[in-house]
Amino acid sequence: MKIRFKLNNKDIEYDVEEYKRALDFLRDDMRMTSVKEGCGEGECGACTIILNGKNVNSCMILAVELDGQEVWTLEGLNEIGDTSIQESYIEKGAIQCGFCTPGFIMSTKVLLDNNPDPDDNEIKEALEGNLCRCTGYTKIIEAVKLASTKLAEKNTTVADKRGEKNAV
Ligand code: FES
Ligand code: FES
Repeated sequence: MKIRFKLNNKDIEYDVEEYKRALDFLRDDMRMTSVKEGCGEGECGACTIILNGKNVNSCMILAVELDGQEVWTLEGLNEIGDTSIQESYIEKGAIQCGFCTPGFIMSTKVLLDNNPDPDDNEIKEALEGNLCRCTGYTKIIEAVKLASTKLAEKNTTVADKRGEKNAV
């Protein structure tokens, strides 16, 4: 079946098998290898993508369901230079084996897009669908807070620049 959708801000048209999972389609056909398969049952969040602004387990939906939708993967955030969250995970040592990390970053992105200054409980709630076997979560929470600070600083800088321009 032919599907048309937006992947990382690019228009895609592709003939896809009807019963292929979005996870396999994104990894194998689209070569988006940041999308990982952990459990394959909607439990671990390693396969998290952003679908129409929400974090979604791509192992639980079919590729045909992407038709007409907007999808982001970690590759897309890199392409547009949206790397504050990744940098924060690295700076805080919130990455060990790294298998879970793309999924965590996509869930963090959705959280901070909707709530730029979350408290600990809000972070835990937003990331509860993502499992990490290595880090023990404390550093991940610290990384999300650092990302929140970095993004706020960036926005202030942009706002300052706009202000300067308007003042000229
Ligand atoms: S692989 Fe999709 S939730 Fe675990
Ligand atoms: S860093 Fe290894 S599973 Fe999270």
